[in-house]
Amino acid sequence: MLRIAIQTKGRLHEKTAVLLDEVGIRLPSAKRTLLIQSNTFPAEILFLRDDDIPQAVANGVADIGIVGKNEFREKRQKATIIKQLGFSHCRLSLAIPKEEEYSGLHWFEKKKIATSYPRILSTFLKKNSIEAEIHIINGSVEISPEIGLSDAIFDVVSSGSTLISNHLKEVEVVMHSEAILISNKSLNKEKNKILQELIFRIDAIQTANDKKYILLNAPNDSLQEIFQILPGMKSPTVFPLAQDGWSSIHSVISEKQFWEIINKLKNTGAESILIIPIEKMIL
Ligand code: PRP
Ligand code: ZN
Repeated sequence: MLRIAIQTKGRLHEKTAVLLDEVGIRLPSAKRTLLIQSNTFPAEILFLRDDDIPQAVANGVADIGIVGKNEFREKRQKATIIKQLGFSHCRLSLAIPKEEEYSGLHWFEKKKIATSYPRILSTFLKKNSIEAEIHIINGSVEISPEIGLSDAIFDVVSSGSTLISNHLKEVEVVMHSEAILISNKSLNKEKNKILQELIFRIDAIQTANDKKYILLNAPNDSLQEIFQILPGMKSPTVFPLAQDGWSSIHSVISEKQFWEIINKLKNTGAESILIIPIEKMIL
């Protein structure tokens, strides 16, 4: 049994729940207790505040955890980063009142900065030889300049709308963050085996996320040309169509290449091009 710590609510919660579902860790619905055992995978889920997840994983209360890289870096707990999960992207930034003129980092000299991330901030200030006063607050950091608690803030920015509605502007991005999977440093053999299975499943989803399944019909004399255009597949699948001299071609393309190759394909005489999402992909 592997115990996985995830966020009870907030920034990461929803997407973490989706990921668990996609990898086949289903939870009995209804009651939201602190600890729930999955009935489809040898794991139990421990619901915690994000701030508590790094420590819970470090001291073995949980075996692994899903948490923001920002929280993990701030807490400086001894745990291993297994992988970046590619969702809940945000950044930790310095922001100042909108009407202030900003000409560089020296603006912060002798200023008071409110934050819930004092360690990341002080490391950054030290590295840049800025002397500023750090004012630690937990929650609603963004209102502190307006009520005179600080001159600036250092906080999580995602869409940026919190800054806008508090008349602040982002002036320095200090760190980029996203959800990460962390693990206790000394998992036993059984737990490690379950973790490897979990990683295998996450990889299958991450590989599929960027990929699309493509189907198209084309005259047989364009086949060679089409094989040149369709990247990433050693050998696309080709089926003869009922209509003489035509074939159906199936392949996999990367989302990013889509618009680039679609016009080239049309020029070859390809028709009825279908693009279908791929749920999971094992290479
Ligand atoms: C952060 C931050 C802002 C908001 C920024 O809080 O403190 O309030 O997100 O997001 P936006 O740029 O999309 O408006 P979060 O939701 O992470 O909650 P927490 O700090 O209380 O954990
Ligand atoms: Zn938090």
